[in-house]
Order: sequence, then C-alpha cells, then structure tokens
Amino acid sequence: MSSSSSLYKQLGLGAAGSPISPSHLLLLVLGAGFLALTVFVVHPNEFRIQSFFSNADCAQPHTPTHVATSPAAENATTPATLARHDDDVRVLIGIQTLPSKYARRNLLRTVYALQATEHPSHAVAVDVRFVFCNVTSPVDAALVSLEIIRHGDIIVLDCTENMDNGKTYTFFSTVARAFPNSSYTYVMKADDDTYIRLGALVESLRGAARRDAYYGLQMPCDRENFYPFPPFMSGMGYALSWDLVEWVATAEESARDRVGPEDMWTGRWLNLAGKAKNRYDMAPRMYNYRGVSPPSCFRHDFVPDTIAVHMLKDDSRWAETLRYFNVTAHLPPSNLYHL
Ligand SMILES: *[C@@H]1O[C@H](CO)[C@@H](O)[C@H](O)[C@H]1NC(C)=O
Ligand SMILES: *[C@@H]1O[C@H](CO)[C@@H](O)[C@H](O)[C@H]1NC(C)=O
Ligand SMILES: *[C@@H]1O[C@H](CO)[C@@H](O)[C@H](O)[C@H]1NC(C)=O
Ligand SMILES: *[C@@H]1O[C@H](CO)[C@@H](O)[C@H](O)[C@H]1NC(C)=O
Repeated sequence: MSSSSSLYKQLGLGAAGSPISPSHLLLLVLGAGFLALTVFVVHPNEFRIQSFFSNADCAQPHTPTHVATSPAAENATTPATLARHDDDVRVLIGIQTLPSKYARRNLLRTVYALQATEHPSHAVAVDVRFVFCNVTSPVDAALVSLEIIRHGDIIVLDCTENMDNGKTYTFFSTVARAFPNSSYTYVMKADDDTYIRLGALVESLRGAARRDAYYGLQMPCDRENFYPFPPFMSGMGYALSWDLVEWVATAEESARDRVGPEDMWTGRWLNLAGKAKNRYDMAPRMYNYRGVSPPSCFRHDFVPDTIAVHMLKDDSRWAETLRYFNVTAHLPPSNLYHL
C-alpha cells in the first residue's frame, strides 16, 4: 500500500468517483504530509495516544486495557493477571484495522458486545481489541482518543500502517511483552471483514491443545488453490497458543522475515522452526463469503455451525450474514420503530 493510497483511505476518499480534483488531492496530500511532519518533529510525544492515558485506566481485573509500547506506559497498563485454571480458554482477538474505519469498528463492537450479552461465559473467555499502527492524522488521534476513553479496546502498535509489512509480527511480539504471565491461552489475529462467532470459537478451542497450537482455515486447501505454498492458516483469523506467541516475539525466524503476506509468513516461521505440531484446520467451519463466486474449498454458502466468515467487505454482506445467523431476530417489539 503506498502512503498516498492509505492517506486517501484515511481521508475517506475512494479512488473512483471522488468529487475532488487531482490538484486538490495533491494539495491535501502535501498538506497532510506537512501536518504529520510538524507534529512528529515538533511534538513527537503528543502523538502517543497510548501515553495520553497511561494512568487513565490502571488495569482493574477484567477491564479492557490497551497496550503501550513505551516502558513508562507499560507499567500503567499492566493487564489483569488472572489465576489460570488448566481448562480455561482465554482468547485475545486482535482485529487489524485502520484508525479511519469508524463505521466498521462500531459495527464490530456492537456485534461482539451482543454476543457477549447473550453468552456471558464467552465474554469472560474472549477479549476483542482493535489494532492499529501509529495514528498519524491529528483528527484520528482526537477521535480515537475518545474511543479509548470510552471503550478501552484499542491497541496502538509502534509501526507504520501496513498490511504485509510486519504489523502481525509487531502485534504478536507487542502482546507477548505487554502481558507477561498472561492468562490468555490463545491470541488470534483477525481481519476487520471477518465475522467471528465467539461461542463456536471458544467451544472448539476448548478441545485444542494449549501448547504448540496453530488454529484457523488452512491453506492451501486443495491443489488448485494456492498450491504449492507450504501450509499456513488464512489471514481471515488464526490463533496461536500463548507459548507460540512468546516464541514469535523472540525467534530469529520471525524477526528475519517480517515483510510479506502476513498469514503465509506466520506459517513459514512455524514451518521453518518445526513449530506448531498441533494444527487445527477448521474448514468447512471457517470460510469466505461466497456471493456469486463458485464454491471452493475455502469459499461456500453459510453453514449453521460456522466459526467465522470472511470477505464481508460491505454492509450488505454484513446484513445478509447477521440475518442468516438470526442476530437481528432478537429485536424487541416497540411502537417507536418499525424495520
Ligand atoms: C515500573 O514499576 C516498577 C515497580 O513499581 C518500577 O521499579 C519501575 O521503575 C517502573 N518502570 C517504569 C518505566 O516506570
Ligand atoms: C510511532 O510513534 C512513536 C511515537 O511518536 C515513534 O517514536 C515511533 O518511531 C513511530 N513508529 C513508526 C514506525 O513510525
Ligand atoms: C511472571 O512470573 C515469573 C515466574 O513465576 C515471576 O518471576 C515474575 O515476577 C512474573 N512477572 C510479572 C510481571 O508478574
Ligand atoms: C435461525 O432461526 C430459524 C428459525 O427459528 C432456524 O430455523 C434456523 O436454524 C436459525 N439459523 C441458525 C443459523 O441458527
């Protein structure tokens, strides 16, 4: 992703159909660049969202925490270290997204909060967090600050925003360092166009090994699709057991190879090191939304025992998915609305 295309996204400008002329865009880009430069050069510290609030939510057990990457802030955000029972499953889900995607975050927060309300035991087992690299727009910095104060579910990593430029490596290694002696049994990286059914996820992880485990939709899933790459779990959402998260944070294999397709590279680190002896391929319960595409080993129609559906790129796909899983069926009747 070029910096200008991500800036387009942050400004909410689609490439096609933009009402703004190219010369205006150039000015905008230059202006934003200048602003970013000013902020970083003149006030580098004021840009650390994480340290703004380093004392704001000194971790109480079970409260959402955000991760800081500076040592000073780390103390203030030490997470709850809960007593660990052998059969407890606790999952940290890091949804990789961009600061500017407010609407998607709002949808995901609502969807996962409703699942937690419906099944309180899942709420205890799963922490959902949104994961960014450095927030470079002053507007986003202000608005994201509000979200952190209100929801406390955002992790800002020390990296520049990218998909395949090491964000996943930074995520796992930051989490490993930020949660020493953590009670998490698994850490999952997920995309922001993936719908996860937390109950199904937790139930299936209960039966998985607690160590040396790698869980997701395994690719390649047949000879036609992405053959002959060595096996890896699709970036839609995959989980590593906590020991592997700690391993990623310290291994040479992962430090050496950060830049590349993130899901393939995670598989590659583990393959090269002979790690992840316990692999859980969750096909056909994890898959891509089909739409009008032909079905394949990684893409098919909804199934009732779904763990996760990927490629929910727009609201209409989300609406279809949420209707299929009866999420909207619980709407209480009222005279005040009709839908
Ligand atoms: C973190 O806390 C410990 C113990 O309270 C203290 O000794 C240490 O100096 C703190 N570190 C930072 C960076 O503030
Ligand atoms: C992210 O922001 C911090 C604080 O402003 C800065 O020290 C760090 O170099 C930035 N990282 C990257 C990769 O830009
Ligand atoms: C983590 O556990 C080790 C060994 O049990 C202990 O020495 C260390 O102080 C703990 N660290 C934290 C931050 O609780
Ligand atoms: C949704 O509700 C309908 C009607 O009660 C039921 O037949 C269907 O199996 C439900 N779908 C799922 C995915 O649970």
